[in-house]
Amino acid sequence: MTDHIYTEFHRFLQREEKERLLGQRGMVIWLCGLSGSGKSTIANAAERVLHQQGRATVILDGDNIRSGLNANLGFSDDDRLENIRRMAEVAKLFASQGMITFVSAITPRGALRDVARGILGDDFYEVYVKASFEACAARDVKGLYAKAARGEIQHFTGKDSSFEEPIQADLVLDSEVLSLVECVDALLEATSKRRHLSC
Ligand code: ADX
Repeated sequence: MTDHIYTEFHRFLQREEKERLLGQRGMVIWLCGLSGSGKSTIANAAERVLHQQGRATVILDGDNIRSGLNANLGFSDDDRLENIRRMAEVAKLFASQGMITFVSAITPRGALRDVARGILGDDFYEVYVKASFEACAARDVKGLYAKAARGEIQHFTGKDSSFEEPIQADLVLDSEVLSLVECVDALLEATSKRRHLSC
């Protein structure tokens, strides 16, 4: 499929030059976890802190991306794989421009996280936002758990579509134990060296 394609990456302004301009290193903070575990809330709060500090950031959120770029994808295994592949490729573009890039996506299986890790390499920083199915169902911010319980949603993660807990996350944020502020503090502390230009 890549026959007769001649990429131009080498001729373009390089990543280091973009990073020097921004005074930061690009990276991808990939938040995985069940729907309602707090991924987007943590990404949103962390981004605001970084923004206040003069950092250039972007959030790729599963629901948002699925309303545009990935609007043609559902929740079958194949579609989730394509969803994650595209999100990782877009995240790679942002990181390569020096952006601190948050991805908030359930990413329910090890094989999917491996795909993202494979695409992003050293830029991939995996954060597991940990909360049990029961806790997420009790929060049910979007009302999806109630709908799934009534049989109105197929392939619902944690119910009739599996969620494999990450075993090699760079960071685990237990949102049943930690407050939002504690999660954000831990995330920013854990990634600060990595985001720093001189590293
Ligand atoms: S992923 O599995 O492919 O990583 P993604 O994070 O993009 O999922 O999308 C999950 C979001 O889609 C959830 O937060 C929820 O709002 C919505 N959603 C709709 N249907 C489902 C479903 N069957 N399972 C999980 N989430 C669903």
